Amino acid sequence: MNLTAKQSKALRYLQDGVTTDLLYGGAAGGGKSIMGSYWLLKMALKYPDTRWLMGRAELKTLKETTLVSFFKVCEIQQLKADVHYKFNQQSNSVHFPNKSIILLKDLFAYPSDPNFDSLGSLEITGAFIDECNQITEKAKNIVRSRIRHGLDENGLIPKMLMTCNPAKNWVYHEFYRPDKEGKLPVYKKFIKALVTDNDKVSATYYDNLLKLDKNSKERLLYGNFEYDDDPSTLIDYDKILDCFTNSFVPGGEKYITADIARFGKDKTVIGVWNDLRVKIYTYSKLSVVESADKIEQHRQENNVPLSHVIADEDGVGGGVVDITGCVGFVNNSSPLGNPVTQEKENYNHVKSQCYFYLADDINKSLVYIDCDDPEVKAMIIEELEQVKQWRMDTDGKRQIIPKDKVKEMIGRSPDYSDVLMMRQWFKLAPQLTWVAF
Ligand SMILES: Nc1ncnc2c1ncn2[C@@H]1O[C@H](COP(=O)(O)OP(=O)(O)OP(=O)(O)O)[C@@H](O)[C@H]1O
Ligand SMILES: [Mg+2]
Repeated sequence: MNLTAKQSKALRYLQDGVTTDLLYGGAAGGGKSIMGSYWLLKMALKYPDTRWLMGRAELKTLKETTLVSFFKVCEIQQLKADVHYKFNQQSNSVHFPNKSIILLKDLFAYPSDPNFDSLGSLEITGAFIDECNQITEKAKNIVRSRIRHGLDENGLIPKMLMTCNPAKNWVYHEFYRPDKEGKLPVYKKFIKALVTDNDKVSATYYDNLLKLDKNSKERLLYGNFEYDDDPSTLIDYDKILDCFTNSFVPGGEKYITADIARFGKDKTVIGVWNDLRVKIYTYSKLSVVESADKIEQHRQENNVPLSHVIADEDGVGGGVVDITGCVGFVNNSSPLGNPVTQEKENYNHVKSQCYFYLADDINKSLVYIDCDDPEVKAMIIEELEQVKQWRMDTDGKRQIIPKDKVKEMIGRSPDYSDVLMMRQWFKLAPQLTWVAF
């Protein structure tokens, strides 16, 4: 088989004694499906009586795409169906005369099988998951835990090949970013393969990718992992980045928003606003009284009226609200009136409402974030990317993704985006601010 340079590199990792997890791809047409099919075929033929998994989120798509690539590889290798291998339509498996098997598996996280009991008794020698960005991290981990069949007998180590297009999910956090930062453990590898690395693809394929919208082009042509493919994302990635250079945003009324350190986290974040221009301050290990003092200090230095100061009231933040006399932000209180019509709006709670309004402001380039610290900037970007619409609740109310889900994704509480979000409270209900006193 004549492999591309990237495919050959992948094959070397798949045959070494170190790599257990390989992520290959990161754009369309990089030869991912062919690569995975070739590896499985090679291993199945080389090691008799071994069992290999070929998985994808949906079995139907697996059969329509990856399996077709597999048959193509067989053809290139001059292997004939029903002679050198046999595909069983009923059991969705490919059988070889040496008793090796390739099993086709559906890895979608069905609500009826959250623990993947359907994979319960599976024992495999290795796995290839195509378009792994479409399955959950849990599904991937369960497949990984099933790799044990025939390893010792054949002197193999458990190996999993995953291919994907760019996605801002576990694939990004587990492979892409650690690789970029040089922090990927030695047993994990990431190979970025673009369509331009694949000389076997037709020129029209490349031309078609060129015609895609900006987001899709960044992901599928250039393999840019920073662009999310999640349609529920509320803020454009480019618009998030623009916040740090939108220095033209005019000033106006002054406000302060604050997220107070509490049990389990030691960061107090304060945003000092000049209309929608904000300067962010981060403090660690402040007591409630010290947090209140800091707010007061910023208030005096920046001429911010007390009625323009808001702090989250959940947990110990309530103490700061008591001490300073500022407005308390209660995440799950009822949504406020529309700023123009004053009519009540259809959100599950005020926090979702404020996040939707914040997303709108950022998408319209109305917000300027004054922040020089690259680490803080990276955290703000990461948090704003997690501002996503969550499924409608039973009453059809709009809501944003719950905080525990955000924490799962980024490994911390989204304190910075919460500070940005709270500013919207004053836009929504300026007529109500006096109620707090
Ligand atoms: N080593 C190879 N030899 C011959 N043809 C190849 C080889 N690698 C890739 N191709 C061809 O290049 C094209 C793209 O390959 P493949 O389908 O594996 O890419 P992909 O990264 O899986 O694409 P997609 O993103 O569309 O899933 C196909 O037409 C495939 O047959
Ligand atoms: Mg493919």
